[in-house]
Amino acid sequence: MFDVEFLDIPPLVSAGGQVRLPGSKSISNRVLLLAALSHGKTTVKEVLASDDTAVMLNALEQLGCSVEKDGSTVTIGGLGGQLVHKKASLFLGNAGTAMRPLTAALALLGGEFELSGVARMHERPIGDLVEALRQLGCGIDYLGNPGFPPLRLYPGGLKLDTPIQVRGDVSSQFLTALLMALPLVAKQDISIEVVGELISRPYIEITLNLLARFGIQVKRPLGSDNWQSFTIPAGSRYQSPGEIHVEGDASSASYFIALGAIAAATKTTNGIEILGVGTDSIQGDIRFVEAARLMGAQIESTPNSLRISRGKPGQGWPLKAIDLDCNHIPDAAMTLAIMALYADGTSVLRNIASWRVKETDRIAAMACELRKLGATVEEGADFLKITPPAVVGGVSQWASAAIETYDDHRVAMCFSLAAFNPAQLPIRILDPKCVAKTFPDYFEALFSVSRAETHQIPVICIDGPTASGKGTLAAQVAQRLGYHFLDSGALYRLSAFAASRAGISLDDGPGIARIAASMPVRFVSHQIYLGAEDVSEQIRTEAAGMAASRVSAHAEVRSALLALQHSFRKLPGLVADGRDMGSVIFPDAPLKIFLVASARCRAERRHKQLISKGNSTTLQDIQLDLEARDARDMSRQTAPLKPADDALLLDNSDLSIEKSTLQVIDWWQGRRPF
Ligand code: DC
Repeated sequence: MFDVEFLDIPPLVSAGGQVRLPGSKSISNRVLLLAALSHGKTTVKEVLASDDTAVMLNALEQLGCSVEKDGSTVTIGGLGGQLVHKKASLFLGNAGTAMRPLTAALALLGGEFELSGVARMHERPIGDLVEALRQLGCGIDYLGNPGFPPLRLYPGGLKLDTPIQVRGDVSSQFLTALLMALPLVAKQDISIEVVGELISRPYIEITLNLLARFGIQVKRPLGSDNWQSFTIPAGSRYQSPGEIHVEGDASSASYFIALGAIAAATKTTNGIEILGVGTDSIQGDIRFVEAARLMGAQIESTPNSLRISRGKPGQGWPLKAIDLDCNHIPDAAMTLAIMALYADGTSVLRNIASWRVKETDRIAAMACELRKLGATVEEGADFLKITPPAVVGGVSQWASAAIETYDDHRVAMCFSLAAFNPAQLPIRILDPKCVAKTFPDYFEALFSVSRAETHQIPVICIDGPTASGKGTLAAQVAQRLGYHFLDSGALYRLSAFAASRAGISLDDGPGIARIAASMPVRFVSHQIYLGAEDVSEQIRTEAAGMAASRVSAHAEVRSALLALQHSFRKLPGLVADGRDMGSVIFPDAPLKIFLVASARCRAERRHKQLISKGNSTTLQDIQLDLEARDARDMSRQTAPLKPADDALLLDNSDLSIEKSTLQVIDWWQGRRPF
């Protein structure tokens, strides 16, 4: 996950490859709750690991369910319709799929509960559900604003003989909540009548489908298209299906369907293949496929996979503008708003009023952020009208923008696709970790199938002499920006190490070069592996540094390591430290720093390091050592240690790591268009 303040996505040009989707949020949270309400154990496979499912699992544990996790498999020991703990205070984050159904289930089971969430959750409506539950006799108080969480639940006398009325035109989750809770008390037939037109009907279909898997056959008027009336038959009782599999998230699929529709295919792949959802999906958002096809996407499907490619020029590319009622795909439709940026005219997304009460007011948020990119947007109570950025005199009017994400995962995921803009501008996504709500590894998945021109992938070079602190600084900068990190010194250390092991003399340049070119090196977090062996400690010694300095003087070794170093330049960017990152390896890097510190200061730092490792040595010996190493690194024929002509000098003798990091980030920000 990108745990950074902002993530800059370089301009992307093509895409191809496979994406395996995380489990569906809607199905995961429904199944977890149904398993908890059932008799017996349920093993749920491919459960989504995300913020929303984490709060549900926590709540279920607090209520007395047993929860065992093994990778993406979760086994729930059900309560069998009886609460173990009749008192609890549950924090449900911003998960509507936890708040609404748990409110209904706990209100009917009886007990003393408090249900709360993050600030935005306390602005998301729940009044219609509370009204419906109060009709049944449930005790519910508002602890904050009437109509919104937090709530206090307490036991009341249930009256189940008259049909229960619930509004269906604000959130379909109110009806879902009742459908999942009422089987707990179905001693007689219980009828629900929906008041107002039911929105987001596909989510009710998911609910009915999953209820059936757990033994509950909800009745609707036979053979009709009537979605206003539902009956839970007398004697309904939850029964675990034993094992149940969560399909991939169809809303998450929409980003990769859109990606396939707007990105040119890479030479070696046949479009984007999405694994985990397909024609067998029970999720309504799978119908995003139809909308994407209308806009020109070429999509082939199997029961549980999709393959997408961009239409040919004039036949699906540029995309065709659409005018669409999106009521049936409320979440995935946000992705259409981004596809509209690549369309041949003005698109209108209609019947999307429910967007206003989601994670944020999504109509307002999308309008505001689309405008930043140069689109013309008209925003109505329940529609969005989007005209792509104009082309004036052959020049696209797209603008680079820092996209606000409003703690809304879908805003962040949608807008990442703006990086394919024809103007080849980078896009900044603020607070990218909000994708953790449903797709913690979204950006990793995006980068794994997207390509940028190499020269567009930023590299920040931090070169400098031994013990100048460049490694620590580079690692910090990389972490702040979510960039990859290359410790090029480690590659020379490894070359010397691997050569010695193979019995090759450190003077044999060509011999070491042959080994260096094919070393099976892997960087895993802070550890460095040669094949399966963790050699981090062995190559970090002073002696290994000296040996590295010797092998690094061979021109053959330097060129053998070139391709390996270049291979670190990957999306979304790289911070590389060494001696010649800016001068030789990445001469086109947009920011080069040459880090220095006084010889005394570097010796003191190294001294501290060695003492802490239990080595005894004197400050003076270290200083002499450092000077000898600098002299060799600076005087060698190939790529001697010296600042690149366009490098910025940073003397960190008196700076903390944090201050140096901020200085580099500040210089970097100054070179960005945001
Ligand atoms: O940064 P370090 O101490 O791990 O580097 C070990 C040696 O490798 C250093 O003395 C010189 C050499 N080196 C190099 O020549 N070029 C680089 N880009 C990095 C390191």
